[in-house]
Amino acid sequence: MTVPDLKLTEAMLSEAEKMNPGVWIAHSRYTAQAARNIAQNHPTLNPETAYIFGLLHDIGRRFGVSDLRHIFDGYHFMQNEGYPDGARICLTHSFPAQNMGVVAGQWDCTPDDVNFIKNYLEKVEFNDDDKLIQLCDALTNGTGFCLIEKCLIDVAMRRGINELTLLKWRATFQIQRDFEAVIGKSIYSLLLGVVENTFQF
Ligand SMILES: [Fe+2]
Repeated sequence: MTVPDLKLTEAMLSEAEKMNPGVWIAHSRYTAQAARNIAQNHPTLNPETAYIFGLLHDIGRRFGVSDLRHIFDGYHFMQNEGYPDGARICLTHSFPAQNMGVVAGQWDCTPDDVNFIKNYLEKVEFNDDDKLIQLCDALTNGTGFCLIEKCLIDVAMRRGINELTLLKWRATFQIQRDFEAVIGKSIYSLLLGVVENTFQF
């Protein structure tokens, strides 16, 4: 697995926070914790790698405020650093369904990038690490762990919806069900404070 170690990952995130501070840093940290906790209960996932993937999945935001471009900025950054598995997570985390239309937002990137993701999604077979970060990205906000339904609605309210939003939501819930079938418990039982953060008390 080509990922930076935890020390380097933390240094990358700290540098990124200086370059573009924002709520995305806390979101990345909660995503990492959720991924690690679920991976600890999974027979094949590596909790340390899952934690690093969570910390890195939005690293493309280091280059400034962007919309969908952060996916590609993260992918190219991690590739250039020599970590193709980290790069992969930057790319796959936004697509719980294999269709580039499931993300609502601005394609503020190059036409080559758009073509690349289109071709990539046609061929890729998501692995459990991809699915874990897709799930955990929808399980956290900037203040903690959060009910998926609330996270998805929050995103829809902020970014809008399109004709594939339901496909994305269904795919996200399918990933939840698949992980829960493997770990034999609710993912929420692994997320300390999810009730308090979801209902804000
Ligand atoms: Fe994220």
